[in-house]
Amino acid sequence: MPEARLKFLMESFLIKGGVPLHGEVTISGSKNAALPIMAAALLTGEPCIIRGVPDLSDTRFMAQILESLGATVKFERGTLTVRAQKVRGYADYELVRKMRGSICIMGPLLGRLKKARVSLPGGCIIGARPINLHLKGFEALGAKITIEGGYVSAAARQLTGVPMFLGGRAGSTVLGTANVMMAATLAEGVTVIESAACEPEVVDLANFLNAMGAKISGAGSPTITITGVKKLHGAKHEVIPDRIEAATYAIAAAATNGEVTLKGARAEHLRAVIDKLNESGVAVERRGANLLVHRKGQLKSADVTTLPYSGFPTDVQAQMMSLFALAPGISIITERIFESRFMHVSELARLGADIEIEGPSAIVKGGRPLSGAPVMASDLRASAALVIAGLAAKGATQVNRIYHLDRGYESMDAKLRKLGARIERVEEK
Ligand code: EPZ
Repeated sequence: MPEARLKFLMESFLIKGGVPLHGEVTISGSKNAALPIMAAALLTGEPCIIRGVPDLSDTRFMAQILESLGATVKFERGTLTVRAQKVRGYADYELVRKMRGSICIMGPLLGRLKKARVSLPGGCIIGARPINLHLKGFEALGAKITIEGGYVSAAARQLTGVPMFLGGRAGSTVLGTANVMMAATLAEGVTVIESAACEPEVVDLANFLNAMGAKISGAGSPTITITGVKKLHGAKHEVIPDRIEAATYAIAAAATNGEVTLKGARAEHLRAVIDKLNESGVAVERRGANLLVHRKGQLKSADVTTLPYSGFPTDVQAQMMSLFALAPGISIITERIFESRFMHVSELARLGADIEIEGPSAIVKGGRPLSGAPVMASDLRASAALVIAGLAAKGATQVNRIYHLDRGYESMDAKLRKLGARIERVEEK
């Protein structure tokens, strides 16, 4: 393996914990809004200018995928200019396998070219990550689906708008809703998606598509209506702030008993998280366009169940578990969205947390002080939970394989250092 690649894979964060975080942190643009919006630029041959795109390995990767499809992509200081004058409808395994989220190129390719052939994304560490609901939506629009040799193909003479139900085993599907909504923008007639995902990232995508000339209403509700149009044109758009990043820094502030201002965080996207933090003894107060986070005295145990939006987000479950490990009493965390999203439990135990898994729930016996140790990152949000625990623990914590973190957190070590944390990026020994 080339030296540079090995270095990238084997980087770690070295954290000396016990320092309360203080100051301001600027929240970056939302990764989970940016990725489908970047894919949506494939729906037109005209240039799209997308501002506030976070500089992450996932967004850089999506830019590579768009280029492999024939688009030209310029990515400068958070502004992405995409022009997909001519695109081919084929994305190969080498590219797609590294990021499941790349499945969201399928809807735009099917909408624009009436055909798409994408490598099946496969699962990841938090679950099987099936795409049956995406394919159900494409078939409802009139596409013929074939799966062969690890690739899924969709092709249609034309796409015809229809009413459809996209609810699945865990409720709605975020990228499934995004994919079908994008394909439906260029279908003949009206598509109604029932049991659509209501996440703010879906609303942001719908706003971008409407700026491109699409006719979408109801985004943010469980029923989205798309009236097909002949063509879409280029558009300019600013991506919403990342509510999951904001929640992560809010929890880090509470875990270290500090006081942090989240610049640009939107309270209206964080209602369930703010509600649970308040219940756990943490204040989240509006300060103009920002949010101020600090403890209101002793941390308290609480129970949380992850649900589709506007319920408590699964992407904040691991980070909340680190906070509950510090709160005296029993907290029960139930994961209802993914089948195996407790990879952080055994690593948190290495820092002294007392957590037992009972089926879909983790029972956290909180209140014992944490002490630093080397731990292993496994997936994006689990890694964030380990950083939070390391910041609160006494002594040194080394979080290995932080390439997981770099996928979804822009300059996390620099942002934390600015808040007073003793954290540095080192090569794993
Ligand atoms: C999006 O993934 C996010 N990723 C995930 O964030 C997030 O955890 C997830 O939504 C849930 O909020 C991006 O937006 C890039 P789903 P997505 O389809 O769309 C089942 C992060 O950390 N399902 O809403 O792939 C699925 O198995 C990432 O930033 C089907 O059964 O998630 C899961 O149990 C991790 N069939 C549930 O639905 C399908 O066809 C929710 O998945 C699709 C999904």
